[in-house]
Amino acid sequence: MRRTGVPRDNGLVSRTGLIIDCDPGVDDAIALFLAFGSKELDLIGVTTVAGNVSAALTARNARLIRQIAGREDVPVVAGAERPLVRAPVEADHFHGETGLGHLPVFEPVAPLAEGEAADVIVREVMARPPGSVTVAVTGPMTNLALAFAREPALPARLAAVVVMGGARSEGGNITASAEYNIHADPHAAQAVAASGCRLVMLGLDVTHQVRATPERIARIAALASAPAKAVANLLDFAVETERKHVEGGAPPLHDPCTIAYILRPDLFATRPCRLEVETESRLTLGHTAVEFRVGPDEANCQWATRANAEAIFALLTERLGE
Ligand code: RIB
Ligand code: CA
Repeated sequence: MRRTGVPRDNGLVSRTGLIIDCDPGVDDAIALFLAFGSKELDLIGVTTVAGNVSAALTARNARLIRQIAGREDVPVVAGAERPLVRAPVEADHFHGETGLGHLPVFEPVAPLAEGEAADVIVREVMARPPGSVTVAVTGPMTNLALAFAREPALPARLAAVVVMGGARSEGGNITASAEYNIHADPHAAQAVAASGCRLVMLGLDVTHQVRATPERIARIAALASAPAKAVANLLDFAVETERKHVEGGAPPLHDPCTIAYILRPDLFATRPCRLEVETESRLTLGHTAVEFRVGPDEANCQWATRANAEAIFALLTERLGE
C-alpha cells in the first residue's frame, strides 16, 4: 500500500491494515470520508450491515461515498441484512430515508465486490499475519459476530476491534439505557465482548464530547473538495435532526471517532473495564454494563472516557481538504 509523507503516529495505523464495518448512515459517511482522505491508512475494505437503514441502502451508500472520495481502489462488500436474534430496528429518523440525510443520491458506478461481509472479514484477516489487521465497527456488530462464529481463531488474530457503541455515564440514545448500535444487535455485541478480542469502545460518554459546532462546520464548508462539501451537507442535516429529535445544539460526531482513534489514539483517554451487554431484558435490551472495578485479568475492553474534540475536528478538516 502506497504511503504518503503524512507522519504516522505509533498508534494502530502504523502497524495494521484496516477493515471498516459500517451502516451508512450520516455519521458513518463522515467516518468513511475521514478514512478515505487519510492516505496513511492501509484500507483493506469496507463491509456494510443493516442498521440505520436497510442492508441494500447501506451498501449503496458506502459505494456512493467511495465514489465522491475517488477511492474505488477500496472494495465494498455487503453483509448481514438483519440482527442475529432480535427484530431489526432502524434509525432512519436520524439519517433520512436514503440514509444520507439531504445528500443528493445516485447509483454509484463501481459495483459491490463479490462475497458476503463475514466471510470476507475471515478471509482477509486469516490471509495476513497475526496482529496485522484492525477492524473498526460503526454499526451493529452483526458481521463481526458472524465472522467470529465462523472462524474461532479470528478474535486473537486481530490487532484491535475499535467500536463506536455503548454508553455508561451518558445513558441511552435509542432507549433510556441503550445506545443504538448495541441495542440494534445486543447478541452480536455480547458475542464480541466475550470473544477475547482486543476491544476499544468509543461510546456516547466520549462521542458526546465531540460536537459539530457552527464554527467547526463553517471551517469544513469553506473547503473546496467534493468530500468537504458532502460532509458540510451531512453535518447540516445532523444539526436539523438534533434540533428535531434531541434538545438541539451541536450534534455529536459519533462514528468518525473510531477512525480518529485509529489515526491518533493520543487524542483519547481510555480505561480498562469489564463490559457486558444486556440481551434478555425488554426494558434495558442493549444496555452496556461497564465495570471499572476489575483486575487486569477480568478486563475485556478499553472504554474511552475523554476526547480532544478540537483536535479531532482539525484532523477531519485537514483530511477533507487533501
Ligand atoms: O448511537 C450512534 C450510532 O448509531 C452511530 O453509529 C449512528 O450511525 C447510529 O447508527
Ligand atoms: Ca453508524
